[in-house]
Amino acid sequence: MGKFYITTPIYYPSDKLHIGHAYCTTVADALARYHRLKGDDTFFLTGSDEHGLKIQRKAAEKGVTPIQYVDAIIANFKLLWKELNISNDDFIRTSEERHHKVVQDALQKIYDQGDIYKKNYEGLYCVPCESYWLERQLDEKGCCPDCHRPVEKMQEESYFFKMSKYADWWLDFIDKNPDFIQPESRRNEMINFVKQGLDDLCITRTTFDWGIPVPFDPRHVVYVWFDALLNYLTGIKYGVDDAFFNRFWPADLHLVGKEIVRFHSIIWPIMLHAMGVEMPKKVYGHGWLVVDGTKMSKSLGNVIDPLGLIDEFGSDAIRYFLLREINLGHDGNFSRDALIQRTNADLANDLGNLLNRTVAMIIKYHGGAVRNAKAGDALDEDLIRVAADTVADYTAKMDAMDITSAVKTVWNLIGRANKYIDETAPWVLAKDEAKKERLETVMYNLAECLRLVAIMVEPYIPQAAPKIFAQLGLGETPLRLQDARWGGLAEGTRVVKGEPLYPRIEVDKDGNTIIGGKKYVPTVPV
Ligand code: MSP
Repeated sequence: MGKFYITTPIYYPSDKLHIGHAYCTTVADALARYHRLKGDDTFFLTGSDEHGLKIQRKAAEKGVTPIQYVDAIIANFKLLWKELNISNDDFIRTSEERHHKVVQDALQKIYDQGDIYKKNYEGLYCVPCESYWLERQLDEKGCCPDCHRPVEKMQEESYFFKMSKYADWWLDFIDKNPDFIQPESRRNEMINFVKQGLDDLCITRTTFDWGIPVPFDPRHVVYVWFDALLNYLTGIKYGVDDAFFNRFWPADLHLVGKEIVRFHSIIWPIMLHAMGVEMPKKVYGHGWLVVDGTKMSKSLGNVIDPLGLIDEFGSDAIRYFLLREINLGHDGNFSRDALIQRTNADLANDLGNLLNRTVAMIIKYHGGAVRNAKAGDALDEDLIRVAADTVADYTAKMDAMDITSAVKTVWNLIGRANKYIDETAPWVLAKDEAKKERLETVMYNLAECLRLVAIMVEPYIPQAAPKIFAQLGLGETPLRLQDARWGGLAEGTRVVKGEPLYPRIEVDKDGNTIIGGKKYVPTVPV
């Protein structure tokens, strides 16, 4: 057993949440849940990145203070994470006092050691991205190379962090830690970027005041990225509770979208190095959720509201789709049709029916009690071998963050178990008194298979996993990976008939969603 500290980026308080936001958090949640399942001492942090000119302007437009503006949005974020069954251990807001102190102390330390200097700065600023750009970096229309919106000329007296001084250290660190940036393609991109020369980073602003005051010059506020990255330390009580901090730091994984790998893999390690803090273990840049090939974003008007989607299809279905369908590190397409197809095929049919049939047959043939398995035949041996291989393969894949393959391997076992029902034909065995023991063995093997499956799917579909356990008569038993070994199910365990895990979804000719035979009526605002 080890420890696992995982973070998502802290999100900008966008007033329009979309399913793309939910993607990163769902992946992080699956990994956090997997590590808890393994028994690792796990801490999962997410939160919100609330400062900056963009927020100050939006609040002003609405005639409210910045904190009033963000409070309402953050409440919605927290609701989404709850509805999506996100198991974060804390939610950090950069507007919180605990965070201000960490940022101010960090800045003061770096300033005192001579790594921060003041200079007049004139540059082209992208407000939505809160980034300065050089003329040569702009896109062909003279706009921001990241979001392609217009940039503004800004001039201000600013403090700079001597990043350039650390370029050689960084190259050496990456050379010695080839796994630090993943996937590999992003690592090469970052190395090329730094090899072209690293500029010092402008880390303070005077053109607005919605930010953390710079301790040695309070007319300035701290640049949002410098502020935001430090949340990963605040969240585990840096400078406040050393024992807690040392229990989780260094972070095992900073999971981030591909467009912010640069901040996390270059600026962040250099900040930490300057502060004398140990390096995190890994930065992983995932791909984007796209709709018809385009990144989902509010400005493009192609966002899909996750709260509405959860209301319609349930959080397990959405989580399962994101984890099964999108290969981590690559872009993936979202579509309602594909979501419905996946839910029906994998969740309602494959998994739901396996559970339904198994529980119903144990009730019908054995009065609901699991009987003991006897020495098996070749079919049993094959099922047991596939089950053992699946647990080993699942563990290896999840450890390697190959979530999609891990899901596939579990569904391969589910498929094998369904086939086992057809091969053994329990309804035929039930008619023959001489096959009594054989029927008991078959039923045991099916229930045991489902027990292993329930454990393995918990990180993906956390609503269904305990329901499977409950139907198997294991309602009080915790889900732990160490128990995913064949033979753990005790004779006499009493199965309990339950609701189908996932009702079938259909779309009628008028485009209405029909769930389990009933027309879906939204219960959240659409
Ligand atoms: N506030 C910064 C992060 C600071 S971390 C110290 C930020 N916020 S964000 O709200 O714009 O993005 C948060 C995360 O959501 C990023 O990892 C981003 O890649 C992810 N996504 C936003 N839209 C997305 C998709 N359409 N698809 C997948 N992920 C997406 O950046």
